[in-house]
Amino acid sequence: MQLLTVWAGLIAVAVSAFIHRSSVLEDDDTTQLPLVIWHGLGDDFERDGLKQVASLAESINPGTYVHIIRLADTGSGDRRATFFGNVTEQIETVCEQLAANPILSTAPAVNALGFSQGGQFLRGYIERCNSPPVRNLVTFGSQHNGISDFQSCSLGDWLCNGAEALLRSGRWTDFAQGRVVPAQYFRDPSELDAYLEKSNFLADINNERELKNVQYKKNLQSLNVFAMYMFDDDTVVVPKESAVFAEVNSTDGTVTPLQERPIYKEDWLGLKALDDQGKLHFKSAPGQHMELSEELLRKTFKEYFGPVEDGKAISSPRLVAQPGY
Ligand SMILES: *[C@@H]1O[C@H](CO)[C@@H](O)[C@H](O)[C@H]1NC(C)=O
Ligand SMILES: *[C@@H]1O[C@H](CO)[C@@H](O)[C@H](O)[C@H]1NC(C)=O
Repeated sequence: MQLLTVWAGLIAVAVSAFIHRSSVLEDDDTTQLPLVIWHGLGDDFERDGLKQVASLAESINPGTYVHIIRLADTGSGDRRATFFGNVTEQIETVCEQLAANPILSTAPAVNALGFSQGGQFLRGYIERCNSPPVRNLVTFGSQHNGISDFQSCSLGDWLCNGAEALLRSGRWTDFAQGRVVPAQYFRDPSELDAYLEKSNFLADINNERELKNVQYKKNLQSLNVFAMYMFDDDTVVVPKESAVFAEVNSTDGTVTPLQERPIYKEDWLGLKALDDQGKLHFKSAPGQHMELSEELLRKTFKEYFGPVEDGKAISSPRLVAQPGY
């Protein structure tokens, strides 16, 4: 009896705290949107580094609900899925995961943070599903224009070495395109024909094939901000300029910035439309690939993931696209 009373009392306190919190939110007319994080190659959702990023996001913008995307229930399974799997299917899984989450799916919008390959995969989520819709997308050291070389793996990292061996031997085979994750964003301008024919992920998501997916463009240009960070001394991502959607000639190293490329000039993806409205941010960060300082993260979280005025969370209606055309 005694226990029940205490329990009921606790519930009452919790409920009144919730009501109080809601009314506080109403008073200043702002909402703190949730944050979705997609980690990079070789990482997993259980890593301390990711937990630290999540708690930093919460401390900078109190009330932020953080969801770290996972493609398996265990850390080792999730790490394996960064090397092996069909990215089309992985994105479908993530679409289901976010839509099934009661907090994310009822929020007016979410913010999204992509580390390395997680950045172009989040862009894939936006283009193909975007439900819940993303308001601001920030990517660090992502491979938006692909890679023309695979990273060197550390000795004894057999997952990484296995993926690398497959990528080097037969990157354009259906086997590699359906199973080796980095193969699906491999893009060397000197192998453009094979890429356009075979790429299971990047050529589609970048709308580089003849038939353009108008939904991809609509969804991407519904973003409020798309900020892309390139690491100045990145030697892991080849070429590093892929992080800001530039193209690099793998023979002579000439860099063609996004604005001089057909993908932008003919606006296959809505990037020009975003840029014209000041919503496409080209950023750089000092240091090697994913050398993230707490200071840079703090600045980023304040700038892009702060509270939004009610009613301004999404700039466009939700649109749902199907992959593959
Ligand atoms: C990847 O998965 C999709 C969806 O299941 C499938 O249609 C496609 O053929 C797969 N790609 C490869 C190269 O196996
Ligand atoms: C890259 O540069 C070389 C040498 O300047 C040139 O011959 C080649 O056509 C360029 N490749 C592409 C894909 O533009």
